[in-house]
Amino acid sequence: MKKELYQKIISKKEFSQLPEEDVEKAFSHFEKRQTSEEEKIRLTRELLHRVFGAFLSKKLLSLKNKGEEWILRKHLSTRERLGFYKEIYKKILNGFGKKVSIIDLGAGVNGFSYKIFKKIGFDVDYTSIEAIGQLITQMNEYFRKNKLNAKAIHMSLFDLDKLKEIISKTPEQRVIFLFKIVDSLEMLDRNYSKTLISEISPLAEVVVISFATESMIKRKKFAAKRTWLLEFIKKNFEIIGNFEMGHERYVIFRK
Ligand SMILES: C[S@@+](CC[C@H](N)C(=O)[O-])C[C@H]1O[C@@H](n2cnc3c(N)ncnc32)[C@H](O)[C@@H]1O
Repeated sequence: MKKELYQKIISKKEFSQLPEEDVEKAFSHFEKRQTSEEEKIRLTRELLHRVFGAFLSKKLLSLKNKGEEWILRKHLSTRERLGFYKEIYKKILNGFGKKVSIIDLGAGVNGFSYKIFKKIGFDVDYTSIEAIGQLITQMNEYFRKNKLNAKAIHMSLFDLDKLKEIISKTPEQRVIFLFKIVDSLEMLDRNYSKTLISEISPLAEVVVISFATESMIKRKKFAAKRTWLLEFIKKNFEIIGNFEMGHERYVIFRK
């Protein structure tokens, strides 16, 4: 993809901090179309908006020192989890020692739930990976102010080599979160979730994948995809937990 084209696409403020990989993936859907460059740019932005739009809302991008709960409530993904966080994290971390590394892929604002780990007795080394730069800045500021053992890294989940390197550098006894991220990945690259899971799972004790079971819009289209993905997990991994809470299904598995 030509540099100037990338620059044109991201000249819209809302896309200005998206990683190049994601913009490229989106553009590749339209690259070969018999249409003008302007139209390709428009279509690329439209797709990026579908993938990232809900998380690029002004409300979320200017949090201005609001408390954790306010932020978790504002975000579509974390809102439904609010009343259940303790329970969910207890179920996931059950059987782990006090010290554990959590790598949260496509974290959104989930890093603002860090204090819940403490509340249930865990000393977590937390790494958030997220494509939206503005969310990274906010999370890192929060981690620093609250002196939490946590960091947020601005990058694309399509950068698999870098991702594996980052995971490998975290202390062992690792848990990887893939909360409500599969749909976004599949929109840009069909079947990438399968590659991602296969590549990262050997690096962690367990991987936890979650799906919204209702309430988020336009989910139906991916229902079949999910069944397929769950079949893939069943076939290739050992499922050690499977529960639904707050309109979200969590599947915990290991190699
Ligand atoms: C539906 S939200 C879920 C957020 C969080 N995991 C949760 O459940 O609270 C999906 C998140 O993944 C991020 N995302 C989507 N595609 C990504 C990619 N290729 N690389 C990194 N982050 C990505 C989005 O920016 C968004 O914050």
